[in-house]
Amino acid sequence: MGLIKTVGLTKTYNGTNAVDGIDLSIKEGVCTALLGPNGAGKTTTLNMLTGLINATSGTISFDDRYMGDRRKYIGYLPQYPKFYGWMTGEEYIIFSGQLAGLTKKEALSRSDELLSLVGLSEDKKKRVSGYSGGMKQRLGIAQSLIHSPKLLILDEPVSALDPIGRREVLELMKTLKEKTSILFSTHVLHDAEEICEEIFIIKKGKLIIEGDLVELQRKYQKPTIYLNTEEPIEDWSTTIKQKEWLRHMDVKKNKITVTVEDMDMAREALLTDESLRKLKINSFEVAKTTLEDLFMEVTGK
Ligand SMILES: Nc1ncnc2c1ncn2[C@@H]1O[C@H](COP(=O)(O)OP(=O)(O)O)[C@@H](O)[C@H]1O
Ligand SMILES: [Mg+2]
Repeated sequence: MGLIKTVGLTKTYNGTNAVDGIDLSIKEGVCTALLGPNGAGKTTTLNMLTGLINATSGTISFDDRYMGDRRKYIGYLPQYPKFYGWMTGEEYIIFSGQLAGLTKKEALSRSDELLSLVGLSEDKKKRVSGYSGGMKQRLGIAQSLIHSPKLLILDEPVSALDPIGRREVLELMKTLKEKTSILFSTHVLHDAEEICEEIFIIKKGKLIIEGDLVELQRKYQKPTIYLNTEEPIEDWSTTIKQKEWLRHMDVKKNKITVTVEDMDMAREALLTDESLRKLKINSFEVAKTTLEDLFMEVTGK
């Protein structure tokens, strides 16, 4: 049983399914990415998991070792967190702690612990209005951990940040995932590849690909040849369409990307192709496709 599980999770807005029958199972002790382009339904899905909005249909169940309202066990950082800029970081965390039911004293000691965890101890007496994007996001993460959740849900935690802020937050997430299961959404595959063990790719409200990241990388790796010629290659490309070693090709003017079934056969055939040589080969590169190619393929228009 996963930490949180959905069956046929659906949200309909004005007759359209923003989330369309999604089955998720989020494992305990790992970091999971919910990956998809803008408008795919990520925020809507996370809002249903956290209980902020109701599902139109489908069920959500939380690990039955944890009794009662699942919201007790979930920490959540929304896509666009709002802060009171006039508060200091510390005041904000203490305020959130008291909202979560801690006494003033408990909130104070918890805030020390959390601000140190997210690397804001030195800045805790400064007003939030002076924080960088990365600092605000780390403060938001500290706030979402106030009640020691079992599952931390972060909606696009790095998408709005500059490179330094991204790095700060990704490094923090790497530390946190040792202690807390994390589910986060992103439209950037690279972020998921950097810190996750599991990914769920959604598009138009539907789940397209799911599984262990390393297994998916292995499964979808395909040998590929990138060819670049001096002369346009489009006409020539039609001559290899029927070859048994060809899996897929993508041609643009002087460039062609050829995904192949059999690298040895393909390489031999291409390097001995007289009409290809006449186009003057500038580069010939053998590589493996990445999940990026798959992600573009499944999520592209
Ligand atoms: N409150 C709402 N009312 C109507 N449509 C909505 C609402 N929230 C989201 N949607 C629509 O649902 C789809 C999914 O949105 P969202 O979950 O925000 O996607 P993502 O977070 O992946 O970018 C979009 O087409 C969006 O316009
Ligand atoms: Mg969103």
